[in-house]
Amino acid sequence: MDVFEALYTTRAMRRVKEDSIPDDVIKSIMDSAIRAPSGSNRQDWKFLVVTDKKTREELADIYRETWDYYVKSFYNDSEDLGASSLKNKDEIETVKRISNSASWLAENYHKVPLLVLAFSRNDPTGSSIYPAIWNLMLAARGHGVGTCLTTVMNFKTEDVYKVLNVPSDKGWTLNATITAGYPLGKWGVAARKPVEEVTYLNKWGESPDWNLTEPLWNY
Ligand SMILES: Cc1cc2nc3c(=O)[nH]c(=O)nc-3n(C[C@H](O)[C@H](O)[C@H](O)COP(=O)(O)O)c2cc1C
Repeated sequence: MDVFEALYTTRAMRRVKEDSIPDDVIKSIMDSAIRAPSGSNRQDWKFLVVTDKKTREELADIYRETWDYYVKSFYNDSEDLGASSLKNKDEIETVKRISNSASWLAENYHKVPLLVLAFSRNDPTGSSIYPAIWNLMLAARGHGVGTCLTTVMNFKTEDVYKVLNVPSDKGWTLNATITAGYPLGKWGVAARKPVEEVTYLNKWGESPDWNLTEPLWNY
């Protein structure tokens, strides 16, 4: 796959089939993930690949609990993640789409065939793990596997560590969990704010005159 197709179309693919992912594909995804850079090339990371049904079910219970906690704490228990309190029609649609898809994941988490938990240590900013996570997601995209980066289980790491036998005295921190499976829906270019709205040229506040209203890559 062209690298730009992967970059433009790797997006939160939460709705996935239950079909398991072949070992060769999992191996390729993980081998791509660990090619990523890390601060001083320390690679002080571990990836826990979970395919076992019972373990996935145990994690699904934790995910649901933490998702509910997240919605309660950060969205005042609003199930549509605050969509109904917005005024702009497009924004309402976007937030509703995300909340439907995120609720689907919480309800169906136990059916997701592959979970990868990313851990790191000796990394006070917690940033060294993210290039590897993004490599993982791009490699999955290359294999036609949809992924979603999730972090809500970080609210209950003790429960997660218990399920997975993660030692509590070795300094490992759970940074994120990537869900993965073959998509139920279609791939598409991720909708984002135009580049000129979020990019300045040379000085803060000076937008480049690039005339980019549409993505430069599209189907
Ligand atoms: C740091 C981070 C944490 C995230 N945590 C969650 C999560 O816990 N649960 C979830 O369903 N989605 C989570 N997401 C997915 C985002 O909601 C998603 O990437 C965003 O809405 C863009 O989606 P799109 O690429 O399909 O447009 C997270 C994404 C990032 C980058």
